[in-house]
Amino acid sequence: MRMVDLIAKKRDGQELTGKEIEWLVQGYTQGTIPDYQMSAWMMAVYLKGMTAQETAFLTAAMAKSGKELDLSAISGVKVDKHSTGGVGDKTTLIVGPIAAACGLCVAKMSGRGLGHTGGTLDKLESIPGLCVTMTQEQFLRQVNEIGLAVMGQSEHIAPADKKMYALRDVTATVSCIPLIASSIMSKKLAAGADCILLDVKVGSGAFMKTQREAEQLARCMVEIGRAHGKQTAALMTNMDVPLGACIGNSLEVEEAVDTLLGKGPADLTHECLMLSARLLMLAGKGSLTECLQQAKSALESGKAFEKFLQMIRAQGGSTAHIEQGEPFLKAAHCIVVRSPKTGYLTHMDAEKIGLAAMLLGAGRETKESVIDHAAGIRLLKKTGQYAEKGEVLAKFYLNDISKQETAQETYLQALCFADHPPVLSPSILGYVNPQGEIELPE
Ligand code: URA
Repeated sequence: MRMVDLIAKKRDGQELTGKEIEWLVQGYTQGTIPDYQMSAWMMAVYLKGMTAQETAFLTAAMAKSGKELDLSAISGVKVDKHSTGGVGDKTTLIVGPIAAACGLCVAKMSGRGLGHTGGTLDKLESIPGLCVTMTQEQFLRQVNEIGLAVMGQSEHIAPADKKMYALRDVTATVSCIPLIASSIMSKKLAAGADCILLDVKVGSGAFMKTQREAEQLARCMVEIGRAHGKQTAALMTNMDVPLGACIGNSLEVEEAVDTLLGKGPADLTHECLMLSARLLMLAGKGSLTECLQQAKSALESGKAFEKFLQMIRAQGGSTAHIEQGEPFLKAAHCIVVRSPKTGYLTHMDAEKIGLAAMLLGAGRETKESVIDHAAGIRLLKKTGQYAEKGEVLAKFYLNDISKQETAQETYLQALCFADHPPVLSPSILGYVNPQGEIELPE
């Protein structure tokens, strides 16, 4: 086989076979196919697309390029949840404990944040002592013992994706549905769960800016999961406004704790209950109404909160501050941001707000940047609310005061005001069921 022929075949819009795709993914991972040929092939995919079968083959080849976790030592239904990334998205910290409290085995590998989106590992690492590095044996033992573990993704999982993603980043081939879907699903397949729930975020703070794009990505990923015998579904959720009121690592953990104690913001609580219910449904725990009831009971009884504490302890973290209801990190400065005008907040550009949080130190500009776990933003007004000129819109928490001015400018640029309240979008925008059918909210 020659790579030049496979590039030409895709350039001419033809379908590649499973053997051809496996050969090129293997060759690229092992270094026998150079970056320039892989770039040309991925650009051809970007322009000509891939059939569902090609996308499934590509995903399988990427999953097989490294280590595939064997979770068979865990007794029970193994579930995983993945978010395509958003601002203020701390749902894993809430959904994981709810699902575990309802009897599921949550074996979750997570990543770090980059740019305007946060990562679960960074949030967890703001808990004193908590460790996200584990051996496979420790990971399996913890899931067997308490039903929940969140660890950092090993570099041995889907190494083809790591190389391909870095190349896509510099060759303008990131925003391509089959390449995004295979990238996400290769890591999910290699992580070994029986049921996979995808949270596809839609809006100004998400990868997918429109519902149409989100539906295409969601269906493509569900189709891949189905082709590999996994119970897979996708919930499409609103990311046109940050989720909850807190952005930034330790602030988000505190908000997750409040939510687990039944005192969280309504949007975050609702979204987490819906995600938990869909995960329970995938695992065969009943109808949507029954699963929603189970998720609510896990929250109301305090069992989900207890699971979160168990996970922190099992991973070496201290629960003292959480149990005493105190913040575990405090930034040196707290600055208030006041409204420049009077009116209704009609739109918040969630990506710009994520960038403002990043400028305060809560996120990474490059992979090498060091996170300030205490930095972040607390939103006091969100889309739909009314503010008087001079009223406090948000609080910034930061250690490095030099960053305040640019962060505030970026924040204020993200906001639109008008005399009339806006029509608000629902937080749940649709669901792609395991058969690949779209269910829209009534
Ligand atoms: N997240 C991934 O893991 N891969 C993509 O291509 C996009 C988002």
